[in-house]
Amino acid sequence: MKTIKINLGDRSYPIFIGQKLFKEYALIKDYIHNKRVAIVTNTTIEPLYLNEIKELFGHEDILSIVLPDGEKYKTHESLNSIYDQLLANKYGRDSLLIALGGGVIGDITGYAAATYMRGIDFIQIPTSLLSQVDSSVGGKTGINHSLGKNMIGAFYQPKCVLINIDVLKTLPDRELSAGLAEVIKYGLIRDKSFFAWLEKEMHVLLEKNPESLMHAISVSCENKANVVSEDEFESKKGIRATLNFGHTFGHAIENAMGYGKWLHGEAVACGMVMASFISKEQGWLSEQDFERIKRLISQANLPINPPAIDEKRFLDLMLSDKKAIHGQINLVLLKKIGNAFLTADYSSEILINTLQKKSF
Ligand SMILES: NC(=O)c1ccc[n+]([C@@H]2O[C@H](COP(=O)([O-])OP(=O)(O)OC[C@H]3O[C@@H](n4cnc5c(N)ncnc54)[C@H](O)[C@@H]3O)[C@@H](O)[C@H]2O)c1
Ligand SMILES: [Zn+2]
Repeated sequence: MKTIKINLGDRSYPIFIGQKLFKEYALIKDYIHNKRVAIVTNTTIEPLYLNEIKELFGHEDILSIVLPDGEKYKTHESLNSIYDQLLANKYGRDSLLIALGGGVIGDITGYAAATYMRGIDFIQIPTSLLSQVDSSVGGKTGINHSLGKNMIGAFYQPKCVLINIDVLKTLPDRELSAGLAEVIKYGLIRDKSFFAWLEKEMHVLLEKNPESLMHAISVSCENKANVVSEDEFESKKGIRATLNFGHTFGHAIENAMGYGKWLHGEAVACGMVMASFISKEQGWLSEQDFERIKRLISQANLPINPPAIDEKRFLDLMLSDKKAIHGQINLVLLKKIGNAFLTADYSSEILINTLQKKSF
């Protein structure tokens, strides 16, 4: 097992990563002392892992709140149903919420914990690769609004994150690849030796080899932990923002296609190719490194070409992304593999050309 610490003063917390962690009572026992536990999960995860988690927390009276599965349920209604069930069962300020599921469950549960009785403890048990390497770490929580994704939320840190890589056995291949997009992202934005490792190991990762997964998840979490520890609230210009590499394009693709058609990781993968292309056209990234990026992303069974979206609409969607400031699109671009920065100082002609391109 490996432990990574997120350093945020009195809100610091550990991330435990390993196999068979659902048997490790010692890891969680300090957090459940004098607490009433409620587990939030969804209908897909419930039959797979709920009993194991109930046993792990060892309480007689554990409330299970089972939501329908899917991004379209990351709503106010789901949030309300968590509040309803906690209140109906007289859960107080001494409650501990457990988020058992992918990023959707993690984000809703975290926001419920941030707001129920002005804030109660919660633990993340992420089960998708994407949630293990990204959404469960860093304290962003929230729900969608009919007028925009993730528009309602709070920064709220968990007490700990428990990453049991055994659960990836049941994760569908397409979801595994979507998670790999965020893994590749860490290599691209700040870790060139990790990128090189991924080039060697991608085929083994796709076979869900436990040692490789363990390494990929640990290095990803370490990278995210370092960024978050430096810039918890995305306030220092450009530090936490580099985690959005490929995302301005990706969000536009997800939005244009209708949420759910392209998985987040798939849209981000294509977005990373587009941002890398701009970086190459600007004369920063070498042609050879651009080819390496495309090759690795394809190898992970992720798309490198965008769907057909009219370039004006693409641009509009990028402008409406919550990262755009005063009508200016700041982009995270690459100086080289392992070195990303936030800038508005790029050629708008190159951006337009990129949005017009059908294949890279
Ligand atoms: N808070 C953050 O910093 C942050 C960062 C990135 C993404 N997100 C959010 O995360 C969400 C996406 O997360 P996601 O990709 O995990 O999606 P998800 O939660 O919808 O999970 C994907 C699918 O896989 C299933 N699943 C999860 N684990 C499984 C397992 N072990 N076995 C079988 N099936 C399993 C889920 O039930 C779901 O059907 C989005 O809502 C996004 O906004 C948040
Ligand atoms: Zn993402």
